Amino acid sequence: MFFFVSCFADCTGLRNVRLTIEPRVVQRHHHSILHCKYDQEDEPLYTVKWYRGPHEFYRYTPTERPPTKVFPYAGITVDVNHSNSTQVLLQNIEFNLSGNFSCEVTIDGVVFSTGTDTQSMLVVQLPEHPPTISVGHERLDYGHILRANCSSPPSKPPAHLKFLLNNVTVARTEALNGRRALDAVWSDLVLELPLTQYHFTDGRLILSCVAQVSDIYQKEATLELASARNPVPERVSAVDCGSAVSTYVIVPLVTLHVLLLINS
Ligand SMILES: *[C@@H]1O[C@H](CO)[C@@H](O)[C@H](O)[C@H]1NC(C)=O
Ligand SMILES: *[C@@H]1O[C@H](CO)[C@@H](O)[C@H](O)[C@H]1NC(C)=O
Ligand SMILES: *[C@@H]1O[C@H](CO)[C@@H](O)[C@H](O)[C@H]1NC(C)=O
Ligand SMILES: *[C@@H]1O[C@H](CO)[C@@H](O)[C@H](O)[C@H]1NC(C)=O
Ligand SMILES: *[C@@H]1O[C@H](CO)[C@@H](O)[C@H](O)[C@H]1NC(C)=O
Ligand SMILES: *[C@@H]1O[C@H](CO)[C@@H](O)[C@H](O)[C@H]1NC(C)=O
Repeated sequence: MFFFVSCFADCTGLRNVRLTIEPRVVQRHHHSILHCKYDQEDEPLYTVKWYRGPHEFYRYTPTERPPTKVFPYAGITVDVNHSNSTQVLLQNIEFNLSGNFSCEVTIDGVVFSTGTDTQSMLVVQLPEHPPTISVGHERLDYGHILRANCSSPPSKPPAHLKFLLNNVTVARTEALNGRRALDAVWSDLVLELPLTQYHFTDGRLILSCVAQVSDIYQKEATLELASARNPVPERVSAVDCGSAVSTYVIVPLVTLHVLLLINS
């Protein structure tokens, strides 16, 4: 995304310095690999320097023995066995490593030329369990108020929650202030929705809550709520001794209309 090359002379030699972080969104205490790609066009590599913010933590200089040098930086653990001139492996990553990393490549051609790329890392803690829903009412009908809470266990950043009723996102929700748990925060969402007939699909109410953290975590809880409305039976008429007998049920008008057509 963010990319610049500073050149002296007309950019001969070094081209396309690109840093990629895999994964860029990393779980706390896991590892991540920083790849620095560059095209040195047959010019000799002088050095590759790696930075967290302004602090250099790793340097690769092929002419030195050993070529790798690690500069202590609280919170960064470099696995030198998996680091070389194009990549650095960071182990046991802590929250405070969230932020910008850069690689700076210098080649020793006709002139020295240097290129840098910077990318950001996000360190997260995912919820230990999927979200849970609790509801107030036993049976629901038009005019009742559907009250429900959704909770997602502590995470960092806090999980983003949303309710869906019959697979449609419900906008009328209120997020509660996060309960803290060490470095992470609970997510709680409250729903209070007066029900109308439009909320009943075939007499059914299916409530789900989706929890999302960045783009690496998505889990949901689903609850089928008891409806005071009769679900539409699959068959409401039966043929008995050659004459059609209609069973009396309350069904939506459209369905009733279809039945009348069939019976006539
Ligand atoms: C980052 O966090 C780790 C573990 O909590 C700690 O040891 C280290 O000193 C911190 N580094 C900085 C620069 O604050
Ligand atoms: C790197 O390799 C050496 C020799 O094979 C080994 O002793 C050391 O434990 C390894 N270091 C890591 C961080 O894996
Ligand atoms: C650096 O190490 C990785 C993984 O071991 C390897 O795939 C890559 O080819 C190495 N790069 C160079 C320039 O040796
Ligand atoms: C990270 O780098 C971007 C541009 O590369 C800059 O806008 C941002 O302020 C930097 N963030 C920090 C924490 O330094
Ligand atoms: C939802 O959470 C609020 C605030 O914690 C609580 O007062 C209420 O009883 C909860 N409702 C349900 C249905 O669990
Ligand atoms: C819910 O909606 C999504 C997309 O909007 C769709 O892919 C999915 O099949 C739907 N699920 C049900 C049970 O209708």
